[in-house]
Amino acid sequence: MCGIIAYNGRDDAMPYLVDGIRNLEYRGYDSCGCAFQSTNGIQVRKDVGRVDDVIRKYQLDGEHSNTAMFHTRWATNGPVSVKNAHPISDCTGEIAVVHNGIVENWAELKESLSMHKFRSDTDTEVIAHIVEDRLNKGGTLREAAKYAYKNIKGASSFLVMKSGSDEIVAVKHGSPLVLGLSKNGHFISSDIPSFSAYTNKVIYLHDGDLVSITKSGYSIMNMAHVKAAHKISYIKTDYTENDRSGFKHFMIKEIMEQPRLIKQIVKSDISALEKSASVLNQSKTVYLVGAGTSFHVALIGAHNMRLNGINAIAIQPQDAKDYSKVFKKDDVFIIVSQSGETADIISMLPLIKENKKLGILNSAESTLARAVDIPIFINAGHEKGVAATKTFTLSSIYLVLLSMFASGNKEAALRDLRLLSLNIYNLFVPSVLSSVSKAASILKKKTDVFYLGKGLDYAIALEGALKMKEVSYLHAEAIDTATFRHGPLALISNGAFAVSIVSRETKQDAIRNLREVKARKGKIIGISYENSDVFDIFIKVPEAGNFSFIQQAIVTQLLSYKVSVLRGIDPDHPRNLAKSVTVK
Ligand code: M6R
Repeated sequence: MCGIIAYNGRDDAMPYLVDGIRNLEYRGYDSCGCAFQSTNGIQVRKDVGRVDDVIRKYQLDGEHSNTAMFHTRWATNGPVSVKNAHPISDCTGEIAVVHNGIVENWAELKESLSMHKFRSDTDTEVIAHIVEDRLNKGGTLREAAKYAYKNIKGASSFLVMKSGSDEIVAVKHGSPLVLGLSKNGHFISSDIPSFSAYTNKVIYLHDGDLVSITKSGYSIMNMAHVKAAHKISYIKTDYTENDRSGFKHFMIKEIMEQPRLIKQIVKSDISALEKSASVLNQSKTVYLVGAGTSFHVALIGAHNMRLNGINAIAIQPQDAKDYSKVFKKDDVFIIVSQSGETADIISMLPLIKENKKLGILNSAESTLARAVDIPIFINAGHEKGVAATKTFTLSSIYLVLLSMFASGNKEAALRDLRLLSLNIYNLFVPSVLSSVSKAASILKKKTDVFYLGKGLDYAIALEGALKMKEVSYLHAEAIDTATFRHGPLALISNGAFAVSIVSRETKQDAIRNLREVKARKGKIIGISYENSDVFDIFIKVPEAGNFSFIQQAIVTQLLSYKVSVLRGIDPDHPRNLAKSVTVK
């Protein structure tokens, strides 16, 4: 994935970029580095570890330069090491490159660059050597960057600097890049929150753009050297809220924000939902697309739509190609994405370019927000924890509202939403929280846990298990309660634990199946509206009609958070992960 930010202008770049790169850490935190122009040419500082560690180690906030770029890495090609941290240099150290994406033909290019000395295992390094080669033959940095772009395959955006030059050149292809324009200088970055404190004036770059920023200005050309006429946009979202409001982690802060955010939906403008509901009614099949947590949201939406008589299927973006033969012109696609930047979704868009697209999104400035016909914003505020929590619940709520509006059940939908906004406060009470703590202190010592549920409860089980894996590294597996006896039951023996999601609709069948687990000495943590003799630990959740599942989901979030903390893990930065997956 990786995050990139650069500044070139009359001001000192370093304070902007030290701040900016912290706001891009959600894109990866395996290593961090920077390149800046100095009177002695390009200086590169880089190391493994979190952004703040690298800044502290090299006292980067004490450096001064007008022209600089930073990178935070999520390792794809080549292990996490200092030599693989970006910026990546050429043979001479005169050229520095930061890159987001994958050069798919790097091995073949490396062979053709056999005269060069390669010092890293990254695919990025071929870019630095191609630029070096090209500059040796004469020409400008822009021409060399363009030449590199023409030779590499795959979604790759990169920035390049040359010793002694006042220019930063950027190439955008696939991975996001946005230009920020301010009075004294310009930014290029992977994402707006990295510089939105300094300017709200932006240009969204297009694939194939070749951008140059110097101290005095900027230019955008396409690869045919034609000046691009992209319009200037103004950021509306406030990204400045960066503090944890007294909470130890963003994850718990974001979990605790949910009651307030749900209340906000009750009072919000629902016209985008009404407009979208009429679009659904004209469709043959509704495909709901999402990855990870957003796929679970899609499952919830599709389930609810089917219950309301709408023909709906949830698919993962990676499977879209397999489905494409059955896609019809009048099928509607609902794209669910918190970040709006998930590469797997962006890369399936050409398959559905003729179709009407709705978006359930959190970021108004994202690529997907610009790609869909009707964006529905969940207004969850910036989600900083790597584990999606508040965006899961809010996206699910919006989808259920949409489905109920489309099927003529608007009044019932709004009634249940109001009920949820009131009842949710009964979730954060000592009796519930102490049961969650009790369950967490048992799961903390386990290596495996099963999440069981049926129908909608199964979607919550999937999401609960994902959350547990993500932040606690506990092997958590979701299994449909009804299929448990068709094989997985063999895993149950004395001491095995299952978290069971049981709602009023599924209770009768679920309890019968859970008895089979009990009979094999399995232990059960029940997340349900009422107790049962099969539960060893009971966590009571209030009901709220069509939105009861939201409260079950919040309990699973709390449980994962608590296990994470008890295991001494930082839930905001789990190992190997990044907040948004911007490479395929
Ligand atoms: O930004 P998106 O909603 O498109 O992200 C999709 C997934 O990468 C994301 O939901 C991921 O699974 C979360 N980290 C899970 O908590």
